[in-house]
Amino acid sequence: MSSATFPKQPPFTLRARLLSPLADGGTLWLSDGIVEVDAAGHIRHVGAAADAPRAAETAIDLRPFVLMPGLVDTHVHIPQVPAAGLGAGTDLLAWLERYVFPLERAFDVAAADDLAPKVYRAMAAAGTTTISAYAAIWPDSTEACFRAAEAHGIRATIGAVLMDRVTYDDRTPPGDILENAIRSSGELCERWHGGADGRLRYAFTPRFAVSCTADMLRESASLAEHYGATWQTHLSEDAREMAAVAEHFPEARDYLDAYDRAGGLGRKALFAHAIHLSEREIARVVETGSAIAHCPVSNMFIRSGVMPVRRYLDNGLRVGLGTDVAGAPELSVITQMRLGFFQHNSRATRVDDDATVPGPLDWIRLGTLGGAQALGLDDVIGSIEPGKEADLIALDLDRCSPPNAGPATDADEVASRLIFRERADMVRAAWVRGRRLEGPPTA
Ligand code: GUN
Ligand code: ZN
Repeated sequence: MSSATFPKQPPFTLRARLLSPLADGGTLWLSDGIVEVDAAGHIRHVGAAADAPRAAETAIDLRPFVLMPGLVDTHVHIPQVPAAGLGAGTDLLAWLERYVFPLERAFDVAAADDLAPKVYRAMAAAGTTTISAYAAIWPDSTEACFRAAEAHGIRATIGAVLMDRVTYDDRTPPGDILENAIRSSGELCERWHGGADGRLRYAFTPRFAVSCTADMLRESASLAEHYGATWQTHLSEDAREMAAVAEHFPEARDYLDAYDRAGGLGRKALFAHAIHLSEREIARVVETGSAIAHCPVSNMFIRSGVMPVRRYLDNGLRVGLGTDVAGAPELSVITQMRLGFFQHNSRATRVDDDATVPGPLDWIRLGTLGGAQALGLDDVIGSIEPGKEADLIALDLDRCSPPNAGPATDADEVASRLIFRERADMVRAAWVRGRRLEGPPTA
């Protein structure tokens, strides 16, 4: 099948195998389904081809490809992509100093103009249609990341990183950092939040409590609340980080409390990692409706620990998946599903309780609808259901590694094929709001 088959713009009707989580629970699996996308890029109809013979006859026939909701990467650092794969097993704070801060310091407009479009294409090639991303501390290169996202078509929440305690800012007089950063973040939010008809959103992005004062946390949380924007940060990733937070925030009863006292919790809050939470912290995350970006590959790469994903899900936490590049070497959300499964499965073997491990369809849900929920976008994306925007990917599961796949005939087998036999070029097309993204291979 050539890429010419894939429509570039809505409206269109696709015929394919359909796999999607459903908002009310369970999974949609149709071995021969159709999806009608209207001129505005919204999904108008989803159903079995047999139930709509006329639409099925005129539809663009993608079979045997599988159509799924686009993947959601709830946590990724755009300027860090060049460092992907470096520093395996390094302690977090040392890794940041050695690999991350020099790259982010050098992330000027020219670097962003060069890198961001390549990164968005690579994400689309991996099936990612929505991201929540950190830029660097510089407003002008954050702006460049937005411009590139506007042009590419990916759905993006982006923020300039805020740091006024430990920072790589070698330009701004220390006394001006807080005020400048808060002002320029507000300006970026004014300009981009809700941009491209809501496809672009702003996230106030204090890096973490190690690098921010209480004032920075409080002022950024208050702006996020004011604008209805996301407030994203890192939480409880690593032991030395946790000790530093305890030292910087002696009044806080635990790590989460440093954010709570700043007014950071609530449905706007998106916490990356959240590995080592106490019972109290888990209860407080639940109570406030805050969300978590689970980054299993990063957590293994930097040796941070294992987040108790099943426990969080059982407690009703909103959980999405994040690549956390360059914490992980992979931009693929599917890789998060696979290595996340292995991570949790190997742990469950030790405690002899395999019922606690999410299975393939649970990982598909986490990487799509779970991510949409974590970003507060589940009214708009995350599943193939009427009324949602048509953020879709087409997958060729015959391109798998190792090759020569046998039949996969139900939802669980299809999900397993996708997750455990991922091949880099298995995503053949990706759409946001029915507009095809550049990135997936054209042949
Ligand atoms: N904690 C604070 N900053 C970072 C970062 O850039 N990556 C990761 N993985 N953890 C962090
Ligand atoms: Zn991160």
